[in-house]
Amino acid sequence: MAPNVDDYNREITYLRVSVIDRCNLRCIYCQPVKNLKLLHHADILTYEEILRVVEAATQMGISKVRVTGGEPLIRRNLLNFLFRLCRMPGLNEVSITTNGVLLKQKAKAIFDAGVRRLNVSLDTLNPLKYAKITGRPCFEDVWGGLEAAEAIGFSPIKLNVVAMRGVNDNEFRRFAELSVRKPYHVRFIEYMPVGLDSQWKPEKYISSDEIKCKLESFGALHKIPRSPCDGPAERYRFESARGEIGFISALSHHFCPSCNRLRLLSDGKLRPCLFSDEEVDIKTALRSGCSQEDIKALFHEAISRKPERHHAEMLQKGAELLHPMSAIGG
Ligand code: GTP
Ligand code: 5AD
Ligand code: SF4
Repeated sequence: MAPNVDDYNREITYLRVSVIDRCNLRCIYCQPVKNLKLLHHADILTYEEILRVVEAATQMGISKVRVTGGEPLIRRNLLNFLFRLCRMPGLNEVSITTNGVLLKQKAKAIFDAGVRRLNVSLDTLNPLKYAKITGRPCFEDVWGGLEAAEAIGFSPIKLNVVAMRGVNDNEFRRFAELSVRKPYHVRFIEYMPVGLDSQWKPEKYISSDEIKCKLESFGALHKIPRSPCDGPAERYRFESARGEIGFISALSHHFCPSCNRLRLLSDGKLRPCLFSDEEVDIKTALRSGCSQEDIKALFHEAISRKPERHHAEMLQKGAELLHPMSAIGG
């Protein structure tokens, strides 16, 4: 069996790399209300260490890396790291998931480093509501960042909208219109019960089917066939739209059978599944003189520990994960 195929015959080709556990926002669905424990600088993998892991990962069959956080753009010297990552042999896709607050000032340099694909979190088009959801009044910064990124030539630009009843379900039409007017991929994400002290409540959850039904009352949605490197989103488009609509149905139609990913956390743990605290420590090996072959062996171990599917229903019943979403990077 190829070294990147797991026990359930899934080929692992995609690594999500969280470069920092800190964030400059406090989104209600992501961070705990209290007791947010942060890593000390010395406990965070250095860029050199991350690049060693990614190099080993490419030799194991990883061809796509997504840089996440916390908020990746707040880590110092990220641009130099991105430059090196984008030139790593074996990687054919490097993308970033950001909250967009610092995008306007950094977009050009990120593009020049070699990144072309951006995912930006934006749950509302209302500046006041934005401040309530994220804890900071930064809507205009994010919007300016999106416009700058579009002008510079990033493509695709995906907007991540976590759907929450009573919070942003009255804005689905505005988001639908945005996907027609702008070349953005607006993706509605089912609200997931991840993280200690999470504010997730069943009443706030809205299924993708319900959102899709609502959007179809605004106009016909045409399905876009999946392409092999697509992530979990089901893709659609309104008639004559410049952009797309996507649905990420982590709870209602879980996509575990086609899961192709591992996560490297900033504390040096490899995480086989978003919804499980199972981890493989790679930092101890890195800091005690291990070889590239040792890293590959740990990588293989993480692949072999991937569960067949998630058990988010346990989290819905109140079980809690060790890390908040902000430390896992989504
Ligand atoms: P693309 O490669 O652009 O499709 O990105 P992506 O959708 O994989 O990444 P992004 O960082 O934009 O995440 C979008 C949403 O999908 C976030 O809410 C993530 O938490 C969620 N997500 C990403 N990977 C997984 C996964 O393996 N399992 C689950 N349940 N959700 C995931
Ligand atoms: N449920 C769904 N998506 C979430 N994200 C963060 N927390 C949650 C949650 N509880 C998303 C954000 C971000 C991505 C990395 O993860 O929208 O764009
Ligand atoms: Fe919000 Fe992302 Fe920061 Fe979490 S990591 S608080 S989702 S911006």
